[in-house]
Amino acid sequence: MERTFVMIKPDGVQRRLIGKVIQRFEESGLKIVAMKFLSVPNKLAEKHYEVHKGKNFYNGLIRYITSGPVLAMVLEGENAIEKVRKMVGATDPQKSMAGTIRGDFAQNIGRNIIHASDGKETAKKEISLWFKDDELINYEMDDEKWIYEK
Ligand code: RTP
Ligand code: MG
Repeated sequence: MERTFVMIKPDGVQRRLIGKVIQRFEESGLKIVAMKFLSVPNKLAEKHYEVHKGKNFYNGLIRYITSGPVLAMVLEGENAIEKVRKMVGATDPQKSMAGTIRGDFAQNIGRNIIHASDGKETAKKEISLWFKDDELINYEMDDEKWIYEK
């Protein structure tokens, strides 16, 4: 089982898409192991997007992520990192496939409504940046034997 960090960005919250987005993850069989609704402090935004520091879109990106509350969560499942990235779709909503979250709900790269970790290392880093260990809940879901061949 793998864990990945996902965040519904301020535009996703403002456009009242939280329910629809979470529904897709729930219905896919992924398990929610942590969730919090928060205004992102500047320092946290800078740390989260530090790989993009110096790029021409960096300042706008920090302004965007700190422009309103976000919903941060950790999802768990088989191959969860890649699975969620596929469900999220390409960074630029003009290029993301229909059926993906960005493809269905977004129009512009600077307002692409959701973030998801892009690999094992980033997932680990992002989960520990956004959540304390005791905020990650270990539990069984009753339908797991129907979701996974065990
Ligand atoms: P994210 O980190 O938010 O999940 O997005 P991503 O992996 O698909 O894309 P990434 O390259 O990490 O870019 C992070 C976010 O920066 C904004 N961006 N704007 N104007 C631009 O050229 C540009 N490029 C990236 C997007 O909001 C992107 O999600
Ligand atoms: Mg990224």
